Amino acid sequence: MRAVVLVGGLGTRLRPLTLRTPKQMLPVAGRPMIEHVVAHLADHGVDEVVLSLGYRPDAFTASYPDATCAGVRLVYAVEPEPLDTAGAIRFAAAHAGIDERFLVVNGDVLSDLDLSELVSLHDAVHHGGGAEATIQLVGVEDPSPYGAVSTDASGRVTAFVEKPPSGEIADAAINAGYYVLEPQVLERIPEGRRVNIERETFPAMVAEGVLYATVGKGWWIDVGTPERYVQASLDLLDRAGDGPPSVVAPSAMVATTATVSRSVLGPGCRIGRNARVEDSIVFSRAVIGNGATVRRSVIGAAAVVGDAATVADLSVLGNGTEVDGGAELVGAILPGPETWPAA
Ligand code: GDD
Ligand code: MG
Repeated sequence: MRAVVLVGGLGTRLRPLTLRTPKQMLPVAGRPMIEHVVAHLADHGVDEVVLSLGYRPDAFTASYPDATCAGVRLVYAVEPEPLDTAGAIRFAAAHAGIDERFLVVNGDVLSDLDLSELVSLHDAVHHGGGAEATIQLVGVEDPSPYGAVSTDASGRVTAFVEKPPSGEIADAAINAGYYVLEPQVLERIPEGRRVNIERETFPAMVAEGVLYATVGKGWWIDVGTPERYVQASLDLLDRAGDGPPSVVAPSAMVATTATVSRSVLGPGCRIGRNARVEDSIVFSRAVIGNGATVRRSVIGAAAVVGDAATVADLSVLGNGTEVDGGAELVGAILPGPETWPAA
């Protein structure tokens, strides 16, 4: 089975971390996000992934020069310009010559949802009922950052509302970012312009009664914001079970008097004497000064947190940021020396 994985977005909500690095190449529990995504697809029978690339495609091609990732063959489909989600799917499918039903995956979603079940349901039940596509749904408390989806008893989608206003739709299931598509869906997507599958293609399919969905149970997270980026790493650490509660790169240097809990330390970073790092992600070569505290935050590559400084509550330091000794940062987003657009 083939899967188109969308990884071409700008990752704006994760800036400055995404000024040079596409969101799906950011490390999650010590591995680029895309490797977790592809490994999950491989577990469900995907043997070729078409990466739908737009923003910074070189970051992917340089990391997987032999065009395999987590043991799966990669095909690189680089858009000439951002085509939005449906345009990107059409472009990637044409590039790879896809002519059978296939999976589409939002490349910034991590989960343990049973995609084999999604595919079987589509093939055995929904497609027999005229489905051109079946969407995987999950339940969340607040659907407003996602696509809210209502279905009837047969699983037919009766409404697809992308980013519904807060409080308007309670208890709706949401689009989990996994679709089984029949190739005829591609013919619905106009060529040569931006087309959004959530706002244009899916609502049109709902009107014709050819879109189906199924609610899954399990772990699911969209890694699109700093809060969910930190949470995704913590989730993976917690889910690793009996293993160590932190992921520490072998080349990280941690003072014996430092305390590191439930955190991810990248290659070559240094954690000073009596420093505390808790529920956080420290990128490669970052330096945490003596007596400093880092809590529920992200420290970019080669950033420096001065002695006795505190960086807490979803602060995000861009690569190379320097924080003065004794400073107190709470929920601060600091861009560092990198600028937008990246050179
Ligand atoms: N190739 C390409 N080209 N990829 C794109 C483009 C584009 O123009 N625009 C976005 N993407 C990729 C992003 O990189 C990401 O992996 C995926 O498409 C989804 O885009 P997001 O920007 O992360 O969307 P979202 O999180 O706000 O909402 C989407 O995901 C939710 C679930 O995670 C929607 O599909 C929602 O309906 C859904 O609930
Ligand atoms: Mg997303």
